[in-house]
Amino acid sequence: AAKNLLATPPMGFNNWARFMCDLNQTLFTATADAMAANGLLAAGYDRINIDDCWPLHDRAEDKSLQWNATLFPDGMPWLGAYLKERGFHFGIYSDAGTYTCGGYPGSLGFEEIDAATFESWGVDYLKLDGCYVDPFTAGRYKEIYSHWHTVLSNMKQPLIFSESAPAYFSGNKHGDNGDWYDVMNWVPEYGELARHSYDIPVFGDKVAWRGVTTNYDFNTLLARLQRPGFFNDPDFLIADHPKLTATERKAQFALWCAFSAPLIISAWVPGLDGETLAMLKNERLIAINQDSLALQATLVSRDGRWDVLSKSLSGGDRVVAIFNRGAEDGRLFVPFERVGYVDGSRTFNVTDLWTGDVDTSATKGVTADVPSHGVHVYRIAPLDGEGTVVPTGMVFNT
Ligand code: GLA
Repeated sequence: AAKNLLATPPMGFNNWARFMCDLNQTLFTATADAMAANGLLAAGYDRINIDDCWPLHDRAEDKSLQWNATLFPDGMPWLGAYLKERGFHFGIYSDAGTYTCGGYPGSLGFEEIDAATFESWGVDYLKLDGCYVDPFTAGRYKEIYSHWHTVLSNMKQPLIFSESAPAYFSGNKHGDNGDWYDVMNWVPEYGELARHSYDIPVFGDKVAWRGVTTNYDFNTLLARLQRPGFFNDPDFLIADHPKLTATERKAQFALWCAFSAPLIISAWVPGLDGETLAMLKNERLIAINQDSLALQATLVSRDGRWDVLSKSLSGGDRVVAIFNRGAEDGRLFVPFERVGYVDGSRTFNVTDLWTGDVDTSATKGVTADVPSHGVHVYRIAPLDGEGTVVPTGMVFNT
């Protein structure tokens, strides 16, 4: 996209993984009210996005989509205004094909009408899913998503465009054919976000942790594409998922922050406990997520158990994330050389981004005691002889 509609990754709420089609107006107003009251809005979570199942099954006489007035009695323009008055952006869902994944009308052939409808409701963010696209080929997806790009580009204020097309080709990632990579190559030209992999497990799904690590693994393949204005999207933060442990919930958040991935919460926000809220509001982790370089942390080492990821921040500091994928708690030492610091005479400030604790005396590297399925994240700032942080000016292009 030529215009930069999204300098840093979006933060907010989407109902899908938590509520699926069990949605109504009150879910969104109650969520927004809770986010304003509990500090999530102030921490940066300023988007409320509606997913599938909001429309009626039939278009109006003028072919426009209609909201389900049983679920949304005051209507979408009202809801848009409600959110805007409280400081939120309003996002909506449609589909590139003939139906949405839930069987509601798709936008194929109605792209201009639907864009105008969404604009008139105060929407500024569109998730465009990819069910019911025929024929099921990468070329057909490219035609439809590029057409949407043209339609959105012609709007006075183009909508942020979240593209689900690559998710429909993620089964091909292992090289049996290159469709997934081909789709990922054009998606950044047309929009701001790529939903690139599987659906994050919905509420109660037993494979929650496997789903998180699967999408994490896909995301690690895509760092080269990310930049301010375009973000790889490994799907929602499932912050109250009953099958994730507290350690696993924090691991997902920490990895998504290190990736500069979208932080879109799919949870019952009014019911979040204090520990989860504190996690979501951790300003040190949010700062690396929202860093202006928007780099995605990449693997600097991996063995059967440990993933170590790193990225640069705008001031020259580096982030190191240490992920224990094994079944046992353990300790790992990561030498500073591993993350690009070659000058052995320096000392470093090492901040543990979970706790805020700072070690001012590290000279060789970081030692982390990480529980099974845990992620520790550190911010490393090189010091001069007086113990003052000196920006190195080194930015590693990952
Ligand atoms: C697909 C998407 C999900 C959600 C559902 C809605 O599965 O990947 O994120 O939007 O459709 O039906």
